[in-house]
Amino acid sequence: MITDQWVTTGSLLVLTAICLYLLWALNTRSAKTSTQSGRTSDPRLIVVEAAKRMVEITDHDVLLRLIARYMEEAVNVSQIGLFFWDDEVEKYRLTVQRGRFKAPKDHDQFGLENPLVDWFQHRQSVLFPDQRSLLYADLIKTMREDLSFHEGRGNLATLRLVKNEMDSYQCQYMIPCYYKHRLLAIVMLGAKQDGTRYTQEELDALETLSNIAAMGIRNSQLVEKHRRTNEELKKGIEEVETLRKRDMDQFYQTIVTLAEAVNAKDQYTHSHLEEVEALGQKVAERIYQIKGVPFDYAKRHILSTALKLHDLGKVGTPDHILKKKGSLTNEEWVTMRLHPEVGARILSPIPTLREVAYIIRHHHENYDGSGYPGHLKGEEIPLEARIISVVDTYHAIVSTRPYRKGQPMEIAIEVLRSMAGKQFDPEVVDVFVDVVKNQAA
Ligand SMILES: [Fe+2]
Repeated sequence: MITDQWVTTGSLLVLTAICLYLLWALNTRSAKTSTQSGRTSDPRLIVVEAAKRMVEITDHDVLLRLIARYMEEAVNVSQIGLFFWDDEVEKYRLTVQRGRFKAPKDHDQFGLENPLVDWFQHRQSVLFPDQRSLLYADLIKTMREDLSFHEGRGNLATLRLVKNEMDSYQCQYMIPCYYKHRLLAIVMLGAKQDGTRYTQEELDALETLSNIAAMGIRNSQLVEKHRRTNEELKKGIEEVETLRKRDMDQFYQTIVTLAEAVNAKDQYTHSHLEEVEALGQKVAERIYQIKGVPFDYAKRHILSTALKLHDLGKVGTPDHILKKKGSLTNEEWVTMRLHPEVGARILSPIPTLREVAYIIRHHHENYDGSGYPGHLKGEEIPLEARIISVVDTYHAIVSTRPYRKGQPMEIAIEVLRSMAGKQFDPEVVDVFVDVVKNQAA
């Protein structure tokens, strides 16, 4: 929904975008320097940085080059080739190449009939159901170990075709970029500079980067489409004003799309999120009423956005941690606990979302000060963050997930009450219990 807030701050955002571009240009130069000076880069930090940049940059070519650069920095790879779908020629075209990447003669573009396209659109999910990308080493291992099995099912020919393609590009690792099941791009990476194998952390970082890239590419396509429309509509001030509203909405929608992708990773349903939002709003409304403070449009909007985006930072959390069925190790918890700060940092360049970013940063603080990241206590924690904490925990308990059946409302209420004053604000728990009981009656 386009809001008045977006409209009034529209010019500010445009100005901010220009500043961000300048900052980006400066950072690009300093990043180059740091790479040249041999500084090692943490793949997780690179993922966070990439997520921030992807929502800022709308120039298609700049974005693609940036994706390749982040991937190169994350793993120090010898070569990268990025084949991106070109609507005009209806082929995947070599759009970015870095390091020693060299396409064989007449192989700088390929169509839908290419074995790699067939692989990522149809075969990968059947032959390698647990992974999205493809390591050359895994392909060879499978061909060797399951020779008779694959021969029996006619898969060996497919595997050979894919192997030949990877050989021709000297590719050691391929990552597809999808948007809503559509294959937007294929990234081909060569061997690492130091000759070592890709670590799991590096593979996770590269996959996350490709997820972020798909969102960024889609966003840049939307912006490009919008830019063309803009040119046609520059006839009157009113029409330009209308487009500016759309720009603001689009900027926001990109973030929401990113959050939706994260929620999908977390296996939450759309209706779950709607329920969480509706409950959060009702609780806030009641608390503001008790305090005698108006719960105005701006407050409603901030809470609604924070409820939607609170786990946005999980975009930087690897799937194997996010979807783990058993309990997390200490090291995995450290990674998981980064998500409030990561989410806040992604939103930080957008002035209109500053309050939302602050709430997101503190949605895992505990009332007694034992939470994270700021160890805030009591009313130091923003009210909206205290509400999110209660509503989200309640829904996590009552929701049925693929690996766990949801608990009854009474059990969830018992848990919340037992943690009131420790993890949760007792007043928020009281109001919340009242709201859910009334709702159930
Ligand atoms: Fe969270």
